Amino acid sequence: MDKLDSFHHDVLRGLNDHPKWLLPKYFYDDNGAALFKRIMDMPAYYLTDCELEIFRDKTAELADTLCAQQEPFDLIELGAGDAMKSSFLLKHLVREQVDFTYMPIDICGEVLHTLRDRLHGDLPDLTVVPLHGEYHEMLREATEQSDRRKIILFLGSNIGNMELEDAHGFCRTVNRRLKVGDTMLIGFDLQKNPHTILEAYNDKEGITKAFNLNLLERINRELDGDFNINAFQHYQTYDPIDGGCRSYLVSLTDQEVNIGAEVICLAANEPISVEISRKYTPLEIDQMAIETGFAPLTQIADSKNWFVDAIWHVN
Ligand code: AVJ
Repeated sequence: MDKLDSFHHDVLRGLNDHPKWLLPKYFYDDNGAALFKRIMDMPAYYLTDCELEIFRDKTAELADTLCAQQEPFDLIELGAGDAMKSSFLLKHLVREQVDFTYMPIDICGEVLHTLRDRLHGDLPDLTVVPLHGEYHEMLREATEQSDRRKIILFLGSNIGNMELEDAHGFCRTVNRRLKVGDTMLIGFDLQKNPHTILEAYNDKEGITKAFNLNLLERINRELDGDFNINAFQHYQTYDPIDGGCRSYLVSLTDQEVNIGAEVICLAANEPISVEISRKYTPLEIDQMAIETGFAPLTQIADSKNWFVDAIWHVN
């Protein structure tokens, strides 16, 4: 199936299901990527600042833990985006003359082009091999391209977009692609005061709302849809017991939406489940490593203890 087909297929599957759902990976067309940048600039969206602090202030600790073996390796970043955080690590490794190739993976081609051009300018000695596509597919390509040791970066609490079970499944799938001696670093947003979390996803400026509604606009643009985005409301929740921070789009009226030849009926107040941004405890993180075939090595936190980068080994 090509890209448009799987988007079409997933959208129709989700909107014909009960309750209705859409997949957050489809947020990131060029518009959505620009809106996500604006989210990262919001003071209330603390995640980026916390992880940036870790990469800026604890670069040597990260590098030493990741590259203890001193063999050449491929540094593969899943969902690299603008690589703002990982650039601190890249710069450090280049300065230390470490032998490695940087392989950023992203589903947004525009984002990858911009990144490659910037890195060519900033770090001309760095070898960059961009991989445009979905995580597992591109990870397969990366592992087929060379036998070198692999270090995987999965930053930004992107793993939060998966339900707990799916996150375990994801880590197991990555683990199966890796070999003894390989390493994985995953960024996790920690459970903290529920107000702090809710405010990061419920800004009064409406940027998060626009980010969510862009998914309906993307369906209109790419799948010949006719969503009236004014007939939908963004509703955000955080459950401090299960750690789920969830966003919904709620239909404000009884309405019919056309997507190509399909008709989707929505009742007034019917929700479409759009995103989970799951928050973890340090214990859950170590358990996830052990249950998915890794050995947890360490968790490196920011100064507020709001976010950790967990480093796991394949033994
Ligand atoms: C990019 C998945 C980490 O869940 O915090 C930001 C996306 N959604 N605001 C997150 C997002 C709403 C973000 N991740």
